[in-house]
Amino acid sequence: MEVLKVIQSRRSIRKYLDKKIVNDEIKVLLESAMAAPSGHNNQPWHFIVINQKELFVKITEFHPFSKMLLTASHAIVVCCDLELDGETGFWVQDCSAATQNILLSAKAIGLGAVWLGVYPQKELVDGLRNMLSLPNNIIPFCIVSLGYPAEEKPPSNRFNESRIHMDKW
Ligand SMILES: Cc1cc2nc3c(=O)[nH]c(=O)nc-3n(C[C@H](O)[C@H](O)[C@H](O)COP(=O)(O)O)c2cc1C
Repeated sequence: MEVLKVIQSRRSIRKYLDKKIVNDEIKVLLESAMAAPSGHNNQPWHFIVINQKELFVKITEFHPFSKMLLTASHAIVVCCDLELDGETGFWVQDCSAATQNILLSAKAIGLGAVWLGVYPQKELVDGLRNMLSLPNNIIPFCIVSLGYPAEEKPPSNRFNESRIHMDKW
């Protein structure tokens, strides 16, 4: 799919078919994630791929807006390694860019996806830290829920002239 069409038609997909995503497609998403730009090219990310139902159930017990995981095929937990961030503090932007690449690539190859916020909500960060036994230098940034789509949504069309400023506020 042409890149502009992918960007402008991407929507959060929270209903999925009862069918597992194949490993090659998960690899495409991870390749896209790691193609993202990062401050000083630090690439401070790690990605935890989850496909066990009992882990999805556990996430729904501490994340209040994650019920779609109960029918998801996979989830990718995007994490930052503070030791790789080099104290630039850019890791939030870096992980956001990687996450958006996953969402757009999912759309491009016919998958449905939604970004579930984690950082900086302490209960959600701690919930994932405990569940996944994360070391202290690893911060779980967000979860991307994934599956073959079982819903269709129209493009969002949020273009808003009033948010554009030319040369001054
Ligand atoms: C930082 C962030 C956190 C989000 N957290 C959740 C979430 O916890 N659960 C959820 O269902 N959607 C979540 N979303 C998806 C938004 O609700 C969604 O992007 C927004 O409503 C716009 O809809 P669209 O993605 O279909 O264009 C999150 C999105 C972002 C960027």
